[in-house]
Amino acid sequence: MQKAALFECQSCASEYPKWKGQCEACGEWNTLIETKSVKENKLKNNYNKDAKSTVLADVVQEDIFYYKTDITELDNVLGNGLVKGSVVLLGGEPGIGKSTLSLHVCQQCAQQAMKVLYISAEESEGQIKSRALRLDKNGITETLWVFSQTNMMAIIKECERLDPDIVLLDSIQVVQHPELSSLEGTVSQVRYCATTLINWVKSHDKSAIMIGHITKDGQIAGPKVLEHLVDAILYLEGDRHFNYRILRCHKNRYGSTDHIGLFEMKEQGLIPIKDPSQAFIETAQDTTPGSVIVPYSQGNRIILLEIQALVIESGYGMAKRNFVGINPNRANLLIAALDKLCHLKLSAHDIFLTVIGGFSITDPSADLAIAVAIISSLKQQAVSDRVGICGEVGLTGEIRPISYVDKRILELKKCGFKGGIIPKRNVLSSTSLNSFNIIQVGYIKDVLQYSFINHNDAHA
Ligand SMILES: Nc1ncnc2c1ncn2[C@@H]1O[C@H](COP(=O)(O)OP(=O)(O)O)[C@@H](O)[C@H]1O
Ligand SMILES: [Mg+2]
Repeated sequence: MQKAALFECQSCASEYPKWKGQCEACGEWNTLIETKSVKENKLKNNYNKDAKSTVLADVVQEDIFYYKTDITELDNVLGNGLVKGSVVLLGGEPGIGKSTLSLHVCQQCAQQAMKVLYISAEESEGQIKSRALRLDKNGITETLWVFSQTNMMAIIKECERLDPDIVLLDSIQVVQHPELSSLEGTVSQVRYCATTLINWVKSHDKSAIMIGHITKDGQIAGPKVLEHLVDAILYLEGDRHFNYRILRCHKNRYGSTDHIGLFEMKEQGLIPIKDPSQAFIETAQDTTPGSVIVPYSQGNRIILLEIQALVIESGYGMAKRNFVGINPNRANLLIAALDKLCHLKLSAHDIFLTVIGGFSITDPSADLAIAVAIISSLKQQAVSDRVGICGEVGLTGEIRPISYVDKRILELKKCGFKGGIIPKRNVLSSTSLNSFNIIQVGYIKDVLQYSFINHNDAHA
């Protein structure tokens, strides 16, 4: 094994023999730090010389075995549970609840007599115990083992000794492999430690969850290659000022990435939200101008979200724009379309938009609701009582069709809504129309006459 001084970019893992201010590969500044590389020639002659390919027809199909964690919100996101022989990477901002969720999983699995090893490189065994007691007193079982350790070799040795069914590592950025001299958290350490654990898990047909920190721009810290090595990537998201947490699947080798899990952070840990639609609605719509409810599709799940707008005349200078939970590019585009097509003079107004509950909107099906919220605040007219609004707005002002319309209407009905405004070009099944007041609009201008309680002066 030959060791050489080397500089490595912490952003893209490119290697350089000399220090540079800027990485040539990714263009980032000050990301090069000194590290030692392990140049392994192990693979040179060390491979199975009899290895051959197989005709697909002769390949024996493997059954997928799922460990149910009994946390349905998590099982659904993973497809059907934690797959035996798989490695899941769980990412999220500090303090969002990754360790809490992982400990829930460990406690639930241990209660089903699976042997679980919770390895923490960040917390002491005593800290884990007090959190475990807070989360679930019944989850302190004989089959749940904890190990506070940062050395990767010691971790693998303990895995060999204990032979657990499920291993949890909190977190991959804090463990260190003694074969590399670089500091924990550097790209080479993260990659080497992850590969070491994944190799052990795969060769012993176990399951593992690795926790990963994320960078400022929301990526899992460490090389992209880490994302290719694992079987599933989950992100726990949420606004730290709110208690709601969303578990999203970014990649899944064993199922779809459509499902999301919703949790609420409480004293007893992350509790699944039973009725998400009610959770994100705050104000009485019919009395509050600027507030609009959108039946929003998140994967294949519909949640009612409340969008609030505040539009006020600007003072001197540039009009202010501030968006929370809404993509600024999308919002600015909508504002420009509204300005031009409905003659609303929005360029002379400050516009603030927010999604209640810390939720982030990415799907354009919320466009129409955002547009109506802006108009509602500008006109100081509340949206008609218990009406949900959804539709994508094109640049020319046409309302484009969206997916899952029947499902959206069903969710509105379930929550006691009386009507909905949806795109004209969406075709509805007859059951959706039963006892529900649906208005279909073709152009952005059309909503001006339908959506407000008092629309005398709503025509621009
Ligand atoms: N005693 C407590 N009661 C209620 N909530 C707590 C308590 N202790 C910690 N929390 C919550 O748990 C969060 C930390 O979760 P944790 O799982 O450690 O996050 P992460 O591992 O993602 O950094 C805190 O931000 C706080 O909201
Ligand atoms: Mg943690």
